[in-house]
Amino acid sequence: MLRTGSDSSRPGRIRPGEPGPEGDDVTTPQAAAGGDGGYTGSVRVGGPAQTRDLGALTVTKVAVGPMDNNAYLLRCSATGAQLLIDAANEADRLLELIGDGGLDTVVTSHRHADHIQALARVVAVTGARTVAHPADAPAIGVPTRRLVEDGDEILVGRVPLRVIHLVGHTPGSVALLYTGPPPAPAGGSAQSPGHSGRVTDPAGEAHPHLFTGDCLFPGGPGNTFGDPDAFTSLMDDLERKVFGPLPDGTWIYPGHGADTVLGAERPHLREWRDRGW
Ligand SMILES: [Fe+2]
Repeated sequence: MLRTGSDSSRPGRIRPGEPGPEGDDVTTPQAAAGGDGGYTGSVRVGGPAQTRDLGALTVTKVAVGPMDNNAYLLRCSATGAQLLIDAANEADRLLELIGDGGLDTVVTSHRHADHIQALARVVAVTGARTVAHPADAPAIGVPTRRLVEDGDEILVGRVPLRVIHLVGHTPGSVALLYTGPPPAPAGGSAQSPGHSGRVTDPAGEAHPHLFTGDCLFPGGPGNTFGDPDAFTSLMDDLERKVFGPLPDGTWIYPGHGADTVLGAERPHLREWRDRGW
């Protein structure tokens, strides 16, 4: 079947930068932008990054490289600790975003080459701890210091992210889920007041945030390369671990292209199953 995307990871119905599915009575990232400090999730290679302040966590999205990969830099507001999801390409660009604050951790969403082109350099410069799933780690080319499984927790400073293992695009793909700030310790707050110069997004704290790598995009699941068993596995995992437990407002940050929200995609699950990709 015809795929129109510029890479082989995502479904062809939606191209990067285009709006997500229309006609759903759910707030899309584009529609939400007005009350969100301007964050839309639409970035382009060579263009500026976009940052949103969720209070306990700041998310910066940048598009890099010839395959239009998204990299996400997450920063703990309380400690300044930083975590990068996918050192995909353009190491200098990523290092510029990381800045002088250092990088504690770099998580590789999966083993595909377009997601790891800058990994060796970023690790060499920052000393960041590498994290990946054991099923993909041997193919990543840079040694993985921490292997993570489904349900594991990864900390960005004080902020916990939960690992969701999704099998199908690759055997060891992982999504990272942020569900809100850590509980405040008795007698004090776990959060700093935030930093000046950025618009806080209080609404952003109200729903989960999910970084999906190449497992879920606006318009469908990630590519399973014509393998029906891999497709069924990915759809099963997405329905059981993502669409089942998470609410419609869950913000989806994919490995390529525009963001979406879970509620915009949920009405199409049957359609995706029926078409087989
Ligand atoms: Fe991929």
